[in-house]
Amino acid sequence: MQFDVNTIKNFENKFGAPLYVFDEKGFILNYRHFEQCFSSKYQNYKISYSYKTNYAPYIGRLVKQLGGYAEVVSDMELEIARYVGYQDNQIVYNGPSKGPLWRPFLINGGILNVDNFEELDRIRHFAVENPDIDLKIGLRVNIDIGQSFISRFGIDETDLQKAFDIVAKCGNLCVRGIHCHIGRSRTTDAWKNRVNKMLAIADRFFAEVPDYISLGSGMFGVMDPLLGEQFGKNLPSFEEYAFAVASIFNEHFKEGKKPVLFTEPGTTLVNKYIDFIATVESIKHIKGKTFVVLNCSKHNLGEICELKRLPIRIISAGSLPETVCEADFVGYTCLEHDVMYKGFTGDLAVGDYVVFGNVGGYSNVSKPPFIRPNCAMISSTGAVIKRAETTKEILSTYE
Ligand SMILES: Cc1ncc(COP(=O)(O)O)c(C=O)c1O
Repeated sequence: MQFDVNTIKNFENKFGAPLYVFDEKGFILNYRHFEQCFSSKYQNYKISYSYKTNYAPYIGRLVKQLGGYAEVVSDMELEIARYVGYQDNQIVYNGPSKGPLWRPFLINGGILNVDNFEELDRIRHFAVENPDIDLKIGLRVNIDIGQSFISRFGIDETDLQKAFDIVAKCGNLCVRGIHCHIGRSRTTDAWKNRVNKMLAIADRFFAEVPDYISLGSGMFGVMDPLLGEQFGKNLPSFEEYAFAVASIFNEHFKEGKKPVLFTEPGTTLVNKYIDFIATVESIKHIKGKTFVVLNCSKHNLGEICELKRLPIRIISAGSLPETVCEADFVGYTCLEHDVMYKGFTGDLAVGDYVVFGNVGGYSNVSKPPFIRPNCAMISSTGAVIKRAETTKEILSTYE
């Protein structure tokens, strides 16, 4: 988004500083484009938006209006999705450690994917105790698609028969779908592998076509080129992912029942569409090194600022700029490693604004009340998405 000094000063007066700004129009266009790429190739495609990435109810409501479901991994996220207005049958509940709400969720027809045998055993007991209720579950499967690490999530593909046997012994319990999610494997080849593995599992373990197959997420979203080039050359487009995934589904389920194909995009949908506006509070020169202290911390921006160089823009607002060389942008915390950007060279003054791009995911939701409460988030339309937290709110849970 483009900001000028007057707009930022106006924001500051109204909402405080620093500030998250959500590009609502950009988000909607991107969402529609992403969805269209997949649904044009496979007619039973559905997005379930990953709440952990950014559970701001304002964004959740937009996704709901756009026709997406919610993907949650805790009772807290489930309650947020319900608050947003979802019925349980429009919510996908994943995760290795679900809370007690799984019981009413299953009774209500929620889409629940079991992560492990202990969870499966609890559900089996619950089914035995409630013989008049038919319960449907999905299984998260742990598949090998050639990734470079052993994932800890789901039931190992070699143990699937055991899981299906446990369910088969329970008359009022059935498996209606399968799910996987593999992080750090974002190439189209990795996606083709996971599709083929999941289809093979569906063919082998289901007498009829399952109700759904959920492939999780793990795609590159649209990015500022400055960030994109840090991930590699020629990153796949949404069209290429859709071709790798939805076209295979279309071919496989050419005739008869078509299971719902879920993917669970989070960062893919939201990352590019939130900017963070910080202010330069001081410029320090210590033993030949320059530190630029901002009015925020790495916790506001999320882990990505430690892994990559976020795209930044400097908006001049201070007086007496100086040329800094290889400066680190550091935060208000007392942590030496609270560094948000390394090696900035250019003109800078106290009072200038630094706009960090691409901070839609794992940013506001990952900010602990460490040293300071979190700041506000607004939409580009002017709506308040989250007001700034207060000390009183932080104190309210302490006796
Ligand atoms: C189960 C599950 N689904 C979806 C996502 C979101 O994936 P992404 O942010 O790559 O779109 C995650 C992220 O870790 C996840 O664990």
